[in-house]
Amino acid sequence: MGVYDGRRFPTEGQLMNLQADDATQTRRNGEPWRAEDGSVLNAHGGCVIRHDGFYYWYGEDRAGTTQEEGLPYARTDAGGVTCYRSADLDAWTPLGHVLRTRRDAPHHDLSVDRVCERPKVVFNARTGRFVMWLHIDDADYGKAAVGVAVADRPEGPFRYLYSLRPQGRDSRDQTVYVDADGTAYHLCATDGNRTLLISRLDEDYLTLTGDHAEALTDGWFEAPAVFRHDGRYWMLGSGCTGWEPNAAKLTVADDVLGPWRPLGNPCRGPGADLTFGCQVNFVLERPGLAPIAMFDRWVPADLANSGHAWLPVASDPGGVVVPWSETPSLD
Ligand code: GAL
Repeated sequence: MGVYDGRRFPTEGQLMNLQADDATQTRRNGEPWRAEDGSVLNAHGGCVIRHDGFYYWYGEDRAGTTQEEGLPYARTDAGGVTCYRSADLDAWTPLGHVLRTRRDAPHHDLSVDRVCERPKVVFNARTGRFVMWLHIDDADYGKAAVGVAVADRPEGPFRYLYSLRPQGRDSRDQTVYVDADGTAYHLCATDGNRTLLISRLDEDYLTLTGDHAEALTDGWFEAPAVFRHDGRYWMLGSGCTGWEPNAAKLTVADDVLGPWRPLGNPCRGPGADLTFGCQVNFVLERPGLAPIAMFDRWVPADLANSGHAWLPVASDPGGVVVPWSETPSLD
């Protein structure tokens, strides 16, 4: 198997070797992973939730050909949102699409010609419903909106409701975070990705209240992933270099609405200066256990072959660190 040196993207030869090595089913950080049925795990930029003894992994469907000709950013058709279920975070059963895109409706938010990225699902204990927030955009990223969908069961199907612009502002990379008291927040890159906008959701998690704050002004902070650890709020993210990797960014706060204090790059190990060639998508909180930071390793010329890396977050005198490991250890 081609060994990744922590800096370059895997070469085509390495990916071919990876396919030849499938029989071993060894999951390595940075490489594409496989589901229980042997298919390539096709869930990117997503999140994991736990519900009734199962974990659900939601992500972007990136299958199909990557198109680059004449486009500002390489893209695949917007394939919608896929879901996988697991009892142990290790063996993942594909459940198919929970939110489908459409081939017949070019003006619809969910048209395959558009962009459907970074889906985040949260459970609303008051309504008993699952709510998905996701980045909805045009192929040229000009619409800069956020879409909302809802389901009665974690395995969907999700019913698409609408898109909106948080506080009337542009919204691209985004996440949703539910605090211990059930208050939920939407966090997105706004002002052309210069600034982070944080808005409180209403009680049903279906829309935003006017309660909002700006954070990290001129911080160029993308891919926000919030988690609670040691009594504080942490947010891991990236810089703004599209599909290309950059140095991860860590921030800390005493309140989700901020202020958020930048702490630098928490990654440690080979390739740490470029986040091991990866970009974070979510951090999974686990009661009594280390949170797991989940990353995509994008392959811009072949997005379908993008890899995954799951790295436990470790406490450190300076805050928290994310050390590299070759395999996705969950201990
Ligand atoms: C990244 C972003 C991804 C995707 C990509 C497109 O900065 O984090 O989610 O939008 O740009 O180039």
